[in-house]
Amino acid sequence: MNKITAAITSVNSWFPEYVLNNEELCKMVDTDNEWIMSRSGILERRILKEVGKGTSDMAVEAVKGLLEKRGISAEEVDMLICATVTPDMQFPATANVISDKLGIKNAFSFDMNAACSGFIYALIVGSKFIESGSHKKVIVIGADKMSSIVDYTDRTTCILFGDGAAAVLLEPNNEGLGIIDSLLKTDGSGRVHLHQKAGGSVKPATHETIDAREHYIYQEGQPVFKFAVKYMADVAAEILEKNNLTGDDISWLVPHQANIRIIEATAKRIGIGMDKVMLNIEKRGNTTNATIPSCLAGWETKLKKGDKLILAAFGGGFTWGSIYLKWAY
Ligand code: UT7
Repeated sequence: MNKITAAITSVNSWFPEYVLNNEELCKMVDTDNEWIMSRSGILERRILKEVGKGTSDMAVEAVKGLLEKRGISAEEVDMLICATVTPDMQFPATANVISDKLGIKNAFSFDMNAACSGFIYALIVGSKFIESGSHKKVIVIGADKMSSIVDYTDRTTCILFGDGAAAVLLEPNNEGLGIIDSLLKTDGSGRVHLHQKAGGSVKPATHETIDAREHYIYQEGQPVFKFAVKYMADVAAEILEKNNLTGDDISWLVPHQANIRIIEATAKRIGIGMDKVMLNIEKRGNTTNATIPSCLAGWETKLKKGDKLILAAFGGGFTWGSIYLKWAY
């Protein structure tokens, strides 16, 4: 009998309606469309405006569509992971809130925090439960309401991020399709360049932390850019080499969408033309955990059974990694 692999059998994304374009940002901070487009490749992003709505509300919409597409009921799901850096609240896990709102009663669920690499970390964790035979229907979500931690007076970060959610279903496969290999990495010393200063146990919220705007994203763009270009390209090259593949063997590169220049450097490094790179950064911005699964959702109709995909991400932590998978439907 063939080894059981974990394959993605359904994918779906959901984005809020409100479009925050570069023109509107120009009225909020000292910036211009030409700078934003040439430095990041972002034209517009979606923002969840409704008061009282959070990450779980977007994830619920993404998962609802996912289950409908696959024709399965909420009761059949046996595990659910939500990768997010913008949970509904510090505890309990947003994954639990999502399960409750959808009537997913027979699953254990938890959150994964690995910043922009969270979705690929969560996908690998979920895949191990499928491969072991203990679980049969695992939902992996990447969802973030980045607008809840973006400082719209900081022109260096507010132009980058957007809100959104996407989810995949993992199921056992015995045709050798699905997740074949992965490389996941962490270097905690990188945390100084990208983090949220207050709101955790070291520095709980006070009037002072709020006045100092310490509950927003703090990012030193240049060092993060430098590490992202190197590490995302290196890890994608490493996984190809490990699996005796070249860029010509790959159907699609599915990169984290932080900056078009980081993506181009990764594609070039592994010898893949930009026509084989999934991109939604121009219209969605950096949606953190939702970037990779929402690209898969956007390209679902173009994907063919057996297509070889390389997923690659880099993000806060630092965290980074790559997954090699064969599309299963
Ligand atoms: O997904 C998580 C991981 N995050 C990333 O991968 C992000 C990595 N970093 C980046 O993508 C880039 O560093 C940015 C897009 C954030 C910035 O691009 P950059 O080419 O690194 O620009 P910079 O920070 O070196 O800034 C260049 C200049 C500066 O002015 P001076 O000092 O040269 O006079 C900035 O003050 O551009 C200025 N600047 C802006 N100008 C217009 C910074 N932000 C803006 C802005 N509009 N929004």
